[in-house]
Amino acid sequence: MGQGFEKLFERTYIGKLGVKNRFVMAPMGIGIDVMSGCIEEKDVEYYAERARGGTGMLNLGFQIVTNKTDPFTMSRFGIGTPLQEMGWARLCDRVHGYGTAVMVQLSCGLGRNAMVMPGVQNVSASENTCFYDPTSTTRPLSIEEIQTIVQDFGRAAAACKRAGVDAIEIHGHIGYLLDQFMTSLWNKREDIYGAQTFENKMRFVTEIYQACRAAVGPDYPIAFRMAVEHGIPGGRTKEESAEIIRYLDRLGVDAFDVDWGCYDAYEWVFPTCYMPDGCMMDMSAAFAKSITGKPIMVAGAFTPETAKKAVEEGKADFIVIGRGLLADPEFARKLQEGRREDVRPCIKCNRFCLSAAGGARDSSCSVNPAVLKETIYGRIPKAETKRKVIIVGGGVGGMEAARVSALKGHDVTVYEKTDKLGGQLLAASVPSFKGRLSMLVDYYKVQLDKLGVKVEYGREITADSEELADAYRIIVATGAHGFVPPIKGADGPNVLEVIDAHTGDQARIGSRVIVAGGGPSGCDCAIELAMEGKEVTIVEMMDQLYPTGTLDNRFSVLRRVAEEGIHVMTGAKVKEFNDKGAIVETAEGQKKLEADTAIIAMGTRPNGETAKAILDKYVCAQTIGDCRAIGQVGEAVQQGFFAGWSIE
Ligand SMILES: Cc1cc2nc3c(=O)[nH]c(=O)nc-3n(C[C@H](O)[C@H](O)[C@H](O)COP(=O)(O)O)c2cc1C
Repeated sequence: MGQGFEKLFERTYIGKLGVKNRFVMAPMGIGIDVMSGCIEEKDVEYYAERARGGTGMLNLGFQIVTNKTDPFTMSRFGIGTPLQEMGWARLCDRVHGYGTAVMVQLSCGLGRNAMVMPGVQNVSASENTCFYDPTSTTRPLSIEEIQTIVQDFGRAAAACKRAGVDAIEIHGHIGYLLDQFMTSLWNKREDIYGAQTFENKMRFVTEIYQACRAAVGPDYPIAFRMAVEHGIPGGRTKEESAEIIRYLDRLGVDAFDVDWGCYDAYEWVFPTCYMPDGCMMDMSAAFAKSITGKPIMVAGAFTPETAKKAVEEGKADFIVIGRGLLADPEFARKLQEGRREDVRPCIKCNRFCLSAAGGARDSSCSVNPAVLKETIYGRIPKAETKRKVIIVGGGVGGMEAARVSALKGHDVTVYEKTDKLGGQLLAASVPSFKGRLSMLVDYYKVQLDKLGVKVEYGREITADSEELADAYRIIVATGAHGFVPPIKGADGPNVLEVIDAHTGDQARIGSRVIVAGGGPSGCDCAIELAMEGKEVTIVEMMDQLYPTGTLDNRFSVLRRVAEEGIHVMTGAKVKEFNDKGAIVETAEGQKKLEADTAIIAMGTRPNGETAKAILDKYVCAQTIGDCRAIGQVGEAVQQGFFAGWSIE
């Protein structure tokens, strides 16, 4: 094994269930439950791939016990149809073949966290405002509904056991419906399920646990997932959690899967790149460990190193990996085989897994296009004929195209005009909180090297370059350049493009800085400079900062901007840069902003000219990534993957 990860591979127990190592795939409600709640072949293979990759246990994530109460669940089957049970059984057989255990997370829904749909009212413990639409309120579940849900949990637990599932987890975490009963913040009921006493607050959970226990018997592992703090005013505190954990421990819960936060502290639910790796091991796992002797499971953007630390320092028994196992299903096996350098990192972007690229796609992963398509793309087959493949540009799209083409057995050369692979990621990964992007670049460098891809540095290819003449396929991945708007003074000596601000001569950046453009790259640059002690002002044209970011990233960025004391001017437009700073137009008229340096972060434009010339000349050429259309890492990787895949 080597590399010091041995402790992660100890057989570890939940009650009498022995799990072959300490890696648990996090519950992630993608795939199975999205459409029907029934397991299709693609779902079996998605999980089988993570089992084959050496994971000790897979948590199937968010299986709803009923579709009758929470509107979020209504379009889905509740647990209990024979079709579902048969699907689980098929999945268990396949996964057990790898010696991997299966856990199913049982849930009754999202409550106030669900999207609000026209004509239906969300439910909760009591009347609460809905997270996504504060103008809508929830209705309290009736006692009859509560008691039906309790029975549904029991029915679902029995179905799991019959299907061969090894353990269940009750989904009490992070402010979802069940958790809304467990806190006086969202539980204002005055009946026996109200939060006025501990016993009443825990009655719903207690009855659910008891129904499950009665259904599965004394020796079957039941875990409970909960946030040890909600992280918002009025939310659950550690003191309250300690009491809950002690109580559930006495009740008979076999393991605790602990995390932190709630939707109102969104960045904790799906930790962003602005959160540290292994972000919940101290705040949640170590805390829970100090309360109970039962096994502790914890998620939160683990790297192999933070996972090792959490276990070696006795903070957690099981390391729960979610997005990391989307990015690389073989996370565990590679560590076991002493191949740390081959682990493809999750970049914590949340774009393709969580928001499915804004709803335009089915769930996937920015760095692993094969997610949920393992039946087709899980293995990269060798081509029958070895072809000459030329890749123009060594950014992330070009590197992925090179990797996949080489895995197909082709003769691959990457021409990169600079002296480094990585393209725009080299600049984007400079801020300390963007370290995962450097990990991704390092991953590709290692893979290209291992696969024998030739990389020619300092070589700028044009349509006339003779290197292209006998290529079977030319993949043009020339990327993009920063957009400099026609603003007076934009070419001044104290004005930089954001890419140069990251990678260029840092000494050119003075102590007072204006960042023109409050999108992702402008905000990242502003945070980075403020962390270095500079006084930073962001000027953004739109009426809010980070206008296009995803909810989770927006949450983190706004928090970091506030923490770093960055000045923000929204609804403001730079009219002129000059040696004293900039003149900015606002609703109240023009203002002078004093600064030593101005940084332009107004987006990028495709490097399209060379690309077009190559396309016009060679029928075997194609473009991928930003030179085709400006996108993010996910788009470039997907296009690179499929370009490489298609070379037969
Ligand atoms: C796409 C996606 C779906 C998720 N669905 C669930 C779920 O169904 N149940 C749950 O308890 N947590 C869910 N989570 C949270 C994960 O279990 C995990 O706590 C979180 O992703 C942090 O772990 P990671 O950094 O290793 O991804 C989901 C996360 C993602 C990214």
